[in-house]
Amino acid sequence: MNIPFLDLKVQFREIEHEVLPMVKEAMENAAFIGGPQVSGFETEFATFCDSRHCAGVNSGTDALRFALMAAGVGPGDEVITVPHTFIATTEAISQVGAKPVFVDIDPKTYNMDPNKLENYLRKRLDGPSTSNHDPGSRIQTQPKAVIPVHLYGQPADMDPILEIAKKNNLVVIEDACQAHGALYKGKKAGSMGLVGCFSFYPGKNLGAYGEGGAVVTESEDMANKIRMIRDHGQAKKYYHDLEGYNGRLDAIQAGVLRIKLKRLDSWNAARRQNAAYYDDLLSKIPGVTIPFQADYAKSVYHLYVILADDREGLQRHLSDKGIGTGLHYPVPLHLQKAYAAQGYKQGDFPVTESVAKRLLSLPMFPELTKAQIEYVADCIAQYMQR
Ligand SMILES: Cc1ncc(COP(=O)(O)O)c(C=O)c1O
Repeated sequence: MNIPFLDLKVQFREIEHEVLPMVKEAMENAAFIGGPQVSGFETEFATFCDSRHCAGVNSGTDALRFALMAAGVGPGDEVITVPHTFIATTEAISQVGAKPVFVDIDPKTYNMDPNKLENYLRKRLDGPSTSNHDPGSRIQTQPKAVIPVHLYGQPADMDPILEIAKKNNLVVIEDACQAHGALYKGKKAGSMGLVGCFSFYPGKNLGAYGEGGAVVTESEDMANKIRMIRDHGQAKKYYHDLEGYNGRLDAIQAGVLRIKLKRLDSWNAARRQNAAYYDDLLSKIPGVTIPFQADYAKSVYHLYVILADDREGLQRHLSDKGIGTGLHYPVPLHLQKAYAAQGYKQGDFPVTESVAKRLLSLPMFPELTKAQIEYVADCIAQYMQR
């Protein structure tokens, strides 16, 4: 049996009859940038996220970058996030001129540990020299924002994070790029911070047929600022209040996203069902740790990630059996070359480091069949019991 890590072709067959006429209509009307597809999608996605406003942008990275800019984050500011995420989270921070700093994750959920956030801020009050990982730098930075990442489709523990942020005057920007439709105590991922940032990279739970992203927010002011930033800093054509970016969501991608959004709840339900079946089969195999779902969370399983000690061997075995897998993410951000100048070292974030060595993402998409899940579980059992 051949089981890809992700199969976007099978999903296309389900929506082809809507996508192709939509693309043809866009060509016939020469409607490519802005227009009713983009505004229609923004209204529908805001509603989906239980948020008042949505601004479509060109990627999840742009969503984070524009959100930080609109929130006034820049040089001299620290933005606190986790080392266990995709680098886009920290690229956005650095690219607005701020400094990314890390706190470790919870060993069960793999998301930001609110206690570690609190400890970091407490230490920070004692003075920058005790916790600043950039001792050579003469620039004193102050914590300004926190970015919890809802990794793999499960929301971070938002209540304590929001409370700590409030106490310390920090802006909260949710990185919901992997969590479209996920719930925290019944609240939609992306709807709890000042803004929520989404990616519509093709492999996401809601994926475009190209690049795409969005910011959702209750704040009209933030939404307006982000709309300006995505469009060269202009609210009116050729009148630029500030320098922005070319970071718009295009009309054909918005059209694709509208077609897919109607199906997202049922696709997410199918992912949850697949995860439950994996859980059932894999929990019986010694040496495999299945994903933990916290009481407060309803995960949408963007990824289904297990832990196993001999992860490389298991990955090779699954590959030999025709099963695609992934590593999300093998090198923690604090140990990446890109952040070497910050002076972090091995051992600084032990939970992240331990998880990064053992994680393995299994095939996960709504159309995965029971037979495919059984085959993956059988192959894992074979390897673990060898
Ligand atoms: C957690 C996280 N943040 C940010 C991004 C960036 O999104 P994009 O690839 O659309 O720029 C991604 C997507 O890969 C992501 O997974």
